[in-house]
Amino acid sequence: MLKTQKLKIKENTRLNDNTYKLVLQGNTAQDLQPGQFAEIRVPGFSLGRPLSLNGFENDTLTFVYRLAGKGTKVLSGLTDGDLEVITGCGNGFDIKKNSHVLVVGGGIGTAPLLPLIRALKENGCEVEVIFGFRERKETLFEKELQEMNVPFWFTYDSEGENVVKKMLELKKEDLYFYACGPLPMMAALCDAGQASGQCSLETRMGCGFGACMGCSLQLKERSARICKEGPVFMKEEIVWQNLR
Ligand SMILES: Cc1cc2nc3c(=O)[nH]c(=O)nc-3n(C[C@H](O)[C@H](O)[C@H](O)COP(=O)(O)OP(=O)(O)OC[C@H]3O[C@@H](n4cnc5c(N)ncnc54)[C@H](O)[C@@H]3O)c2cc1C
Ligand code: FES
Repeated sequence: MLKTQKLKIKENTRLNDNTYKLVLQGNTAQDLQPGQFAEIRVPGFSLGRPLSLNGFENDTLTFVYRLAGKGTKVLSGLTDGDLEVITGCGNGFDIKKNSHVLVVGGGIGTAPLLPLIRALKENGCEVEVIFGFRERKETLFEKELQEMNVPFWFTYDSEGENVVKKMLELKKEDLYFYACGPLPMMAALCDAGQASGQCSLETRMGCGFGACMGCSLQLKERSARICKEGPVFMKEEIVWQNLR
């Protein structure tokens, strides 16, 4: 369920060249799912900026975001005060129980996968992780993955690697997968293996909560709003050409 509230900026720190961690504090107790996102109202902008949940506790929400344009630039300069936030946006991942699964992320698309990995582990899944970045200095979440005690591999474009090559090299293409990252990465991942899986899609959004139809997407057998019925869709229903 959507909830609009003002949350206090507890932390807004730089993780690397262009990536920041934002922690908001308040009464954030709500039934939230990994893969859901929040619409963050950056002062001076009428439209919210959609950011995926990177962590959620009873009194904090964590986001990890990359500088993209004017809104995220202004956001990165805020160190205190309140932000208006709409939480509970989108459907979130469907969490498997007691299964062996592969979690694949690319770039800033790795952000929503941390709470997913936690939830999968809590539900008895054996989880393996492949995260890809453009170069080493962009690496995210190494410490967190170590702490979660999951096997993980990082790939770097600058070293001629990528997540799909790594998946095939490790012979993991038959595992049920969860993916979030650049669209070409997810399309290639879906093509490379026979296994089923879930992909979290990204697109430019207007309202972010289903009202403007600005994020409509034609799937194989239905149309959907990425912000409302998505952003997570089953591999089998996505028509990649409709996203390009
Ligand atoms: C469901 C979802 C989850 C996301 N999660 C994250 C995350 O966890 N971390 C992160 O760094 N980025 C995430 N993004 C992308 C992020 O929303 C954009 O980078 C951000 O809105 C850009 O805003 P800007 O003002 O800096 O850029 P500008 O290009 O100046 O933005 C102009 C307008 O376009 C919209 N917009 C621009 N790029 C995007 C985009 N890629 N997706 C949606 N709207 C966009 C903005 O909301 C704004 O209305 C997510 C996007 C979606 C759809
Ligand atoms: S962004 Fe308005 S309906 Fe999805």
